[in-house]
Amino acid sequence: MVTNLTQQAISEAPEISQCNENVVWVVENYIYKFKPKAIVEVGTYKGGFFYVLCKTAPRNSILVTVEVNPQHLNKWEVEGYHPNAHLIVGDSHSKAIQSRVTKILGDKPIDFLFIDANHNYGFVKKDFELWSPLVCGFVAFHDIYYQEVPGAMRLWAEIKEKSKFTCESGQGQGIGVVMCKHGRLL
Ligand SMILES: C[S@@+](CC[C@H](N)C(=O)[O-])C[C@H]1O[C@@H](n2cnc3c(N)ncnc32)[C@H](O)[C@@H]1O
Repeated sequence: MVTNLTQQAISEAPEISQCNENVVWVVENYIYKFKPKAIVEVGTYKGGFFYVLCKTAPRNSILVTVEVNPQHLNKWEVEGYHPNAHLIVGDSHSKAIQSRVTKILGDKPIDFLFIDANHNYGFVKKDFELWSPLVCGFVAFHDIYYQEVPGAMRLWAEIKEKSKFTCESGQGQGIGVVMCKHGRLL
């Protein structure tokens, strides 16, 4: 069932780089059900998906989005989406950027990580290797069916071999979600 809040957030959001069915799938299955306290998105683009996450996450959550090219983003606007929303401008592969994120999160592990930045295999793999040790919860990958740049697709196939708990949204370019505890796949 799609709630009014989800629908409203989608209709108000700036451009979202994925189909509405995927957005609804994430919100209904992971945000409402598990109420993550620390959400990190890698790859913001225009902030559309981040907007929906901010509007549907618990008010006491902390949300951080990381974007290397902030051309389309207004930091103050993005940070106004939620009382604890943060936009970090920089390369998700940079340790300095990661330190800024961990400082914001304090001692909280990430309980929902959304990887949606550079989709070439080496890049998406590095995002996973660098960020998953901070996760105690879920890691979601966008574009697991995206054949034109199949990096997420290839990594997702490898992850499925190693994990007992994976789940996919079969809509659009697909989203794959895996459970992870400090870098270890469950
Ligand atoms: C597909 S878009 C993200 C869409 C957004 N998650 C959404 O659903 O609306 C990918 C974004 O990742 C950014 N990006 C690419 N490489 C990056 C990196 N190394 N670090 C941070 N952001 C990166 C790109 O600039 C682009 O804006």
